[in-house]
Order: sequence, then structure tokens, then C-alpha cells
Amino acid sequence: MTKVTMTVNGKSVSGDVEGRTLLASFLREDQGLTGTHIGCDTSQCGACVVHVDGVAVKSCTMLAAEADGASVDTIEGQANADGSLNVIQQAFQDHHGLQCGFCTPGMVMSAAALLKDNPKPTEQEVREYLEGNICRCTGYHNIVKAIMAASGQDVTAIAAE
Ligand code: FES
Ligand code: FES
Repeated sequence: MTKVTMTVNGKSVSGDVEGRTLLASFLREDQGLTGTHIGCDTSQCGACVVHVDGVAVKSCTMLAAEADGASVDTIEGQANADGSLNVIQQAFQDHHGLQCGFCTPGMVMSAAALLKDNPKPTEQEVREYLEGNICRCTGYHNIVKAIMAASGQDVTAIAAE
């Protein structure tokens, strides 16, 4: 076992992990942060996306030991300080960007990373950025719309679905 220490959602945490322990498992099982979902065995679905040192990462593709010393942000740390939904989360709610919600944490974390780098993405840019996030319910349309709305863009021209 190896001891790892990292900052998760602004708090220093540590734990003993095996060399094979994935960051996703460390967050879910050691830290109880079950908002980070595991939706596949093939690194395709994106339900596990978190930010590591500000970069969107599929936490099923990274070992917990590799995140030693890093700053990790998960969906649990995304709400505003007063507990209200942040602008992306609120936009997902307002534009029906989820059905079962399984993909949603990863979608929100990917959207946050996109908007940090590209604050006013086009619809096509949003669709391309979400290539690594699979949603089995929504057909993506309302997710794209929510992200466009979260960026402050007028989405009335995007047809409802
Ligand atoms: S669980 Fe990480 S990509 Fe599917
Ligand atoms: S809302 Fe169900 S997988 Fe996306």
C-alpha cells in the first residue's frame, strides 16, 4: 500500500492505496464522493471526468498514486459557496440536460473545462468537445443547449427536442 495525499475540492485528504487503485475508485470508495460515476470498463463514457490540476481527466484512466500531490475537483465541489447550483448545473436543470443523470457529473465537469478554455463555444465546438462523454438518454441535444446557455449565449434559435 502507498500513502497518497491530495487536495480534493479544496480540502487536503489522504489514504492508503494499492498501486492499481484508480483515482475514480479512490474518490468513490475511500472518500465517499460517489458523484464521480464509473459507467464503462473501456475509458469511453466520460461519467468519471474530474479535474486534476485544472485539467479534465477521466479518473478511470489515472491511478490514485499518480494524483498524489495534485488538486482534484469533483462534481461535489461545483456548487456555489451558498450551496446553490452553479451556472452550468442550473443550465442543465433549466434546459432538461439530463434524464437518468448518470452521465451528468461527467458532462458538467467536461463543460466546465470547455468553458474555461473557450467561454463562448459554437454548437459544433460543444458537440466536438463532448466526444468523450456518452449519454444514453438525452440524444445530447439538450446537454449542448444547456452548455451554450451556461456560456451566456442565446439558445432560443436552437430548436427544442
Ligand atoms: S468510467 Fe471512465 S470513461 Fe467510463
Ligand atoms: S442522462 Fe442518462 S446517461 Fe445521460
